[in-house]
Amino acid sequence: MANATPWYRNAIVYGIDVKTFHDGNGDGIGDFQGLTEKLNYFVDLGVTTLWLLPFFPSPNRDNGYDISNYYGVDERLGTLDDFVSFARRAKERGLRVMVDVVVNHTSVEHPWFKAARLDRESRFRNYYIWTQDPPPTPADGGNIFEGQEPTVWTHDEVAGAYYYHRFYHHQPSLNAKEPRVLEEVRAIADFWLSVGADALRMDAVSHMVQGPDLEEARPQSPQSILRELRSFLDRRAPDAAVMGEADEPVAELDRYFGEGDQLHMLLNFYLNNHVFLSLARNSAAPILRAIDLLPSVPPTCQWANFLRNFDEVDLERLSADDREEVFAAFAPDPDMRIFDRGIRRRLAPMLDGDDARMLMAFALLLSMRGAPVLMYGDEIGMGERLDLPGRDAVRTPMQWSDEPNGGFSTADPERLIRPLVDAGPFSYDRVNVQSQREDPASFLSRVQALIHARRSAPEIGDGDLEILRTEEDAVLVHTLKRHNRRFVGIHNLSPEPQEVSFVVPSQAAFGFEQIASSDATPQPLDMPFRVEGYGFRWYQADPRGKA
Ligand code: BGC
Repeated sequence: MANATPWYRNAIVYGIDVKTFHDGNGDGIGDFQGLTEKLNYFVDLGVTTLWLLPFFPSPNRDNGYDISNYYGVDERLGTLDDFVSFARRAKERGLRVMVDVVVNHTSVEHPWFKAARLDRESRFRNYYIWTQDPPPTPADGGNIFEGQEPTVWTHDEVAGAYYYHRFYHHQPSLNAKEPRVLEEVRAIADFWLSVGADALRMDAVSHMVQGPDLEEARPQSPQSILRELRSFLDRRAPDAAVMGEADEPVAELDRYFGEGDQLHMLLNFYLNNHVFLSLARNSAAPILRAIDLLPSVPPTCQWANFLRNFDEVDLERLSADDREEVFAAFAPDPDMRIFDRGIRRRLAPMLDGDDARMLMAFALLLSMRGAPVLMYGDEIGMGERLDLPGRDAVRTPMQWSDEPNGGFSTADPERLIRPLVDAGPFSYDRVNVQSQREDPASFLSRVQALIHARRSAPEIGDGDLEILRTEEDAVLVHTLKRHNRRFVGIHNLSPEPQEVSFVVPSQAAFGFEQIASSDATPQPLDMPFRVEGYGFRWYQADPRGKA
């Protein structure tokens, strides 16, 4: 076989919340019509896979992660037909569509839960996890939303029992030990694949496989759920991929890949935390440590690397001291922090809107072994609104132009689903797609150039990684090799220029071409190597055969 690399090993994923992306019908809420109108934006940007946050019917008490019907579309966002036509038109442009599957829990409004609580004999009772006698509540409550939810067991009067919920009390956890729940998961996956999805993002996977601390509620083999889903997909849609969310200690991560028979992709929280520590310290050491400790990935799997997502920057993978260091650097005001573990800010304001530093952070993300995941708006340097509650701070509408409502919607501003960032240095009249598109030196244009450079270097997603040691702690030099291709990346995490020397593995010591850089002037890959403050340079051994 000429090239057996699965597509997701080199996917460039772009995360979108449909309701805050672009409003096509002028009601103040983003929708599929508006999203479809923006398809060429993704083609120009160079991303390959569009991850859509939950867009299903929902009481929306957790930004749509509280689903009341897995087989429909939130009517504010459009119809199922609108989704189908969006997915078809995305595919016509060579884009893949990833749908968020939230099966760790449902909303309390889901008909399964309604039936389960009403009738002990209902076939849906065992879809959830019940007890008369919950285990003692740990000091921190055991709930993911520490400080907001005091427990994981809530008493339901109608059911006459306590139900388990790892997340909000209005999100009862599904019982993954119940075979019919697994059948439902397969049916949901099957449905969305049949109407246009190419990939799935699976929410809260580790909580699903772990279950609560009740022996009888634990699945026989915790990973069997993932194995079953994978084997179903291998038969049903062998080209489909599942990107899972398991924010767990590094020593436990390899179990989610298994023998290449579970998740295809795993969101890399561990690397993410260490990138932020590296940025806070102006030192490559935390990233090197993370690379060292992360398990190796089977050839049919991949890391999904990211800088920001739609939640807080969850710093749970750092020690308390390291976390404090990141807080001090990027969230000095306690109001910028949440759940005692994270930062509710966008990337650009965390890095003081310093284009060079932001671009270097993007260059790091795009050159790390794995598939990069971008969050809408970060490519133009959008900011946050700390006056919005909780994580909504980072979920403001996309800033398309300096027109009213930032070109997001033609509705009255008071009808918008959320207000835009409309004051300060990240306000939509200063930071928007339109103005940056017209300027080849803008942040957007430079991110776009980086994405296209990344696409010309598939060895980043699929090559063998080697760290090239230098004497400077601030500079990360790494190389990725596959067949006759070799990539070399040099990234300076400090604001000071640095001079370093390193040894590029022999067979590729000539024929290097610079494919991306923080500085327009080309520089040969000669030692000693000079790299400007927050600078980076990417090289590729000439694939035309010189190397
Ligand atoms: C999502 C959060 C959500 C939680 C519960 C997380 O993985 O990213 O936004 O609140 O799952 O569904």
